[in-house]
This record gives sequence, structure tokens and C-alpha cells, in this order.
Amino acid sequence: MSDQYQYLLPESQLPKAWYNINADMPVAPQPVLHPVTMAPVTPDFLSVLLPMNLILQEVSTERYIDIPEPVREIYKLWRPTPLRRAVRLERMLDTPAHIYYKYEGVSPVGSHKPNTAVPQAFYNKEAGTRALATETGAGQWGAALAMACSFFDLDLEVFMVKVSHQQKPYRRIVMEYFGATVYASPTPQTHAGRAALDQDPDNPGSLGLAISEAVEVAATSGGTKKYALGSVLGHVLMHQTIIGEEALLQMDMAGEYPDVVIGCAGGGSNFAGFAYPFLRQNLTAGKNSRIIAVEPASCPSLTRGTYAYDWGDLAATAPIVKMHTLGHTFIPPSIHAGGLRYHGMAPSVSALVEHGDIEARAVKQLETFAAAAQFSKAEGIIPAPESAHAIRVAIDEALRCKESGHKQVIAFNLSGHGHFDMMAFEAYHRGQLQDYEYPKEKVDEAMAHLPRVRRPEA
Ligand SMILES: Cc1ncc(COP(=O)(O)O)c(C=O)c1O
Repeated sequence: MSDQYQYLLPESQLPKAWYNINADMPVAPQPVLHPVTMAPVTPDFLSVLLPMNLILQEVSTERYIDIPEPVREIYKLWRPTPLRRAVRLERMLDTPAHIYYKYEGVSPVGSHKPNTAVPQAFYNKEAGTRALATETGAGQWGAALAMACSFFDLDLEVFMVKVSHQQKPYRRIVMEYFGATVYASPTPQTHAGRAALDQDPDNPGSLGLAISEAVEVAATSGGTKKYALGSVLGHVLMHQTIIGEEALLQMDMAGEYPDVVIGCAGGGSNFAGFAYPFLRQNLTAGKNSRIIAVEPASCPSLTRGTYAYDWGDLAATAPIVKMHTLGHTFIPPSIHAGGLRYHGMAPSVSALVEHGDIEARAVKQLETFAAAAQFSKAEGIIPAPESAHAIRVAIDEALRCKESGHKQVIAFNLSGHGHFDMMAFEAYHRGQLQDYEYPKEKVDEAMAHLPRVRRPEA
């Protein structure tokens, strides 16, 4: 019998609702705090940055939230995305494991990010917003939001982390092509950027710093601009659950159920989007999948960070949340997986790791690129360096099955392709990439700057 490679859902089965983990969280959410007063934030404070319809999603405890029809229509440009069985990779590894991957690289800009960019642009338009400001790491989020803003006729300014601005010029061009204005962060045009440049004119930037710049632009715009975030926040993770909802239906088509569910985690959105619907089955339907979030060893918030209150950005202007953090002033090494260079992690992912519902693993840059190369040789796809972190652990799990002789079903999220990351692959093939040791001293220094939060009422 020949193996089936692809599990494709018809358009008619595009999910009609996103899944909200708030309804099933086994631990109570911790309050979000004001960046200055450290008192729980009010919707009024948040409304300087976000439209009220998204704030209401952020705090909703409804299990499912309907996807508006105009958003579903745009989703149909690339969704449902394929679930593929990596038959050729299984053979290459000579493993009894079955390996499945959900491929989000088929979106117009090549990653999972449009799954939330489109609804964020839609809800902002509904709320009367005319312009947005945002940050981007590797440029995937910025490209997705630029496309979504062009659909809904919104202006967009993007603060792109300087090291990625240099490493990935084509993503900048994609953003500009869709009409966005792109700056290399840190810039001299914001307080946060100037402060960083005064300290170090060669500052390579970080997601935490680019967030500070974008937040400042929105907060000082007198209400003319809102801020949009590509990860970390609850509503962003929720929009991504369309990935896992489709994958559940597709695993059903394949007649299997994953023993292991894997995603890479920067701020946590593609991981949560893929994994939370499976986690719901663990929490409410008696399933027992192991769920693994994978991060870079050089920016290991989940595996080496502290579960504590910290600011979401470098300049301490964004709200304070309880999360796994390496300290908001930490500037991670310049690895090529720019989307994973964030000091913190989504509060829900952090709480679930702390509670033992999710495992976390850290992998190094060179072994990650080796896994990407092996995957490409078998499956043809060049993955984004971020996504390659999930591939590394999927291969490790498959090799563990080979050793033990046990067949397991492994499913991972391939969050994007790496067509605009070719400089990184070239450097890898020339032997010019390096591993970065865990920067303990820098993290220790950053951890000294956590906010002194008195235990707020839960
Ligand atoms: C392809 C890809 N995967 C993963 C990530 C990490 O972000 P998140 O953890 O929010 O999915 C990014 C971020 O830019 C990305 O571009």
C-alpha cells in the first residue's frame, strides 16, 4: 500500500471559529499591569494602543469566537493549508515514527503571520483606525501586516530590528511593496531609539526595542495611530488557532492522532495556534499528547528564564505581564531566526509550561540549520530558520523512536518558508554560522532590572 502524502481540506471546511484557551486554562490568568503605576490595567489605558474590539477579545473567556466573514473570505486565498506526512523524511531517518507537518508557508507572504494580521487590520478598520505602527523581527510579521493593511486601506509604519533589516532586505522590500514605511530599529526618531543609540551606536536592535519604538509612535500620536503586535498577546494567539483546528480535522482524515505536538516559540503565536486545539483535547477530551515548544539556546526564555512579572518591551513603556523572561533589557545574540529573538513569552504559554501542560526545549543554531538541510533534502521545502527549530525537535523525537523501536505519531508546525533567509543558508553552507553560548552574564544583568511588583490580587 502506498503512503498518502497530503491531507487537504476543502474550502467548505475552513473553520468558522477561533479557539480561546482562556476558557480552559487550568490556572487562573495573572492580571496585566500598568507600565508605570503597576496597578492592573484598565481598558481605557489599553485603548490608547488597541481598538476596543480587540481588547474585548483579549479578556474574553468564551471558548470559541466566530471568525468574521470578511476575514474568512481573505483566509480562503491560502487556507485551509496542507497537512503533509513527511514520508520521505521518515525513510531518510529510517524511523518507525510517522511525521506530519502543517505547512503555513503557503500563505501569500510565506508564514503563519497573516492569520492574525488580517483580523487585526479588519478589527482596526471596523473601529475607525486609519494608521498602525508595529515592530518586526525577521520581517515576516511586518510583511503580513503590510499585506493586510493594503487590503483594508490602512497606513502602516514598521520598526524592523536592525540586524534583520541588514540580513533580510527582501522582506523590507515586500513591506514597502505593499505600501508600508519601514525603519531600521533602533531609529533616531523615537526616545526609545535615541536612548539605545546613545548607549551603543552599533546596537543590532531587538524585538523588545522595536516594540518600544512602535508603542511610542502609537501612544504619542494623539489617537491617530494604533499599535499592532504580531505575537505574545492572547488575541494574537487565538487568531492563530485556525492552524490547529484545521490540523485536528486533517489528522482525522489521516486516521491518526499525534503523540507529540511541536512548534517553535518566539512570542508563542504559531506554537499556540497549532498546539492549543490539541491541548484542549488533552484538557477536556481525555487525550494525552506531549506538547513541546522549541526555542533557541541563545534566547531561552522558557527553559532558562524566570517566571516573573516583566515589561513587554525594552523601554518599559508596554504593559507588565507575568511570563517567562530573560529580562526586558536583554539583547539576544544575532541569530538568524530573528523572529525568536524576544526576551519574554506569551503569558498563557508561560503559565502552561509552569503548570506542566507544555514541555519546553532549547536547541542551538548549528543543529537547527542541520535539521533544516536534512528536511529540505527529503521534502524539498526550505524552511524559515524559526520553523527549523521545530524540525530539529521533530527529527530528534523520530530518532528516539528509531532507538526504542516504538512507533509514535509526531506532528509539527512548519510556520514559514525561508526563501528570504537565503543569506543565512549560504552562511551555513560556507561554514560561517556559529553557535552562541547561553549569554548568562547578560541575562543576569538584565534580570536585575525586573519591575518590583508587589504580588497583585490574582
Ligand atoms: C516563520 C516564523 N516562525 C515563527 C516565528 C516566531 O513567532 P511566534 O512565536 O509568534 O510564532 C516567526 C516570527 O517572526 C516567524 O516569522
